[in-house]
Formats: sequence, structure tokens, C-alpha cells
Amino acid sequence: MKQVLVGVLVLGAGSLGLSAQAPPAGAGAKATVKLAPTANQTARGEVTFTAESGGVHVVGTFSGLVYGEHGFHVHEKGDCSAPDGTSAGGHFNPGGKPHAARDAAARHAGDLGNLKADPYGLARVDFVDSTLSLSGADSIVGKAVIIHEKADDFTTQPTGNAGARQACGVIEAAK
Ligand code: CU
Ligand code: ZN
Repeated sequence: MKQVLVGVLVLGAGSLGLSAQAPPAGAGAKATVKLAPTANQTARGEVTFTAESGGVHVVGTFSGLVYGEHGFHVHEKGDCSAPDGTSAGGHFNPGGKPHAARDAAARHAGDLGNLKADPYGLARVDFVDSTLSLSGADSIVGKAVIIHEKADDFTTQPTGNAGARQACGVIEAAK
């Protein structure tokens, strides 16, 4: 008797799933980046970007950081070849906006705020960002992610005065 009941429940869930609305275009698209230390640095990390209905879900883990805050941005060129990371260019800014905090009304698309490293040099991020995109002309795929030496002050133009680049990685589309 129990087994029959379970079977009915599973069938019920299956038909509910079929009748659910299709996700918005681009939802489910995914990209990843592995950040490696620049010359003489120890910062590193991994970030996954997943397109959702409210924007792009950003989940990342980082290590090898100095205790405190570190500017965290998407930069305009997917090129980490320079030992100091400067080959990645400036902040990704397809909208021609001023540099600002992640929650500002107008900001560079690449302005993702600060990482907050704990005393062990570890940091995590987990947020949904409505400005980032994984498709179309403003896609961050193929761009770089940079971790900086210092905190982003969200005010100084166009960099946030976050200092040297301590880690760099190129965002790649995930299968
Ligand atoms: Cu930066
Ligand atoms: Zn910026």
C-alpha cells in the first residue's frame, strides 16, 4: 500500500514540473573563473556565475589574502598575461558609468564591491547581481576578474583606489 502511494506522489510531482513556466531566456547560463596570484602574490580563488531570473548569482571562495578588505572587480580585457595583472585593463564598463559600489544606482558593470578576508586569509561571496550579464554585448564571459591589494573606496575615479592587482583570472563559459 505504501509503495502505491509513493508512486502516485512521484507521478504527481512529474506532471507539475511539466506544466511549470519556462525559465526566462539566458537563465541557467553559467560561467566560471579561476583566479591565480600575480607575481609575488598569494591570493587565489574560484568564482561561479549563474544566470537567474533576478540577475547573475555570484558564488566564490578565496584564499591567500591579507586580513581585511580587497577590491573585487570584473575588468575589461580577458588578459592576465602581465606579471602585475595590468593587461586586464580597467573596470568593465560597457554602460559608460562612474566607478561606484555594487549597490549604487549607477556603477561600472564590473564593480563588485570588496572581498572581506578573515584572519586566515579566506573570503567568500554569495550574491545575486542584477547588473551583470552572461549573454549579449555586455556579457562578462571572456573578461577578467581581479582581486586588489586594498579596499575599494567606491569613490575614487575610475579605480576605487584599490591598489595593486593580487590575483587575476579570465571568465570562461561553463558547459
Ligand atoms: Cu579592479
Ligand atoms: Zn569600477
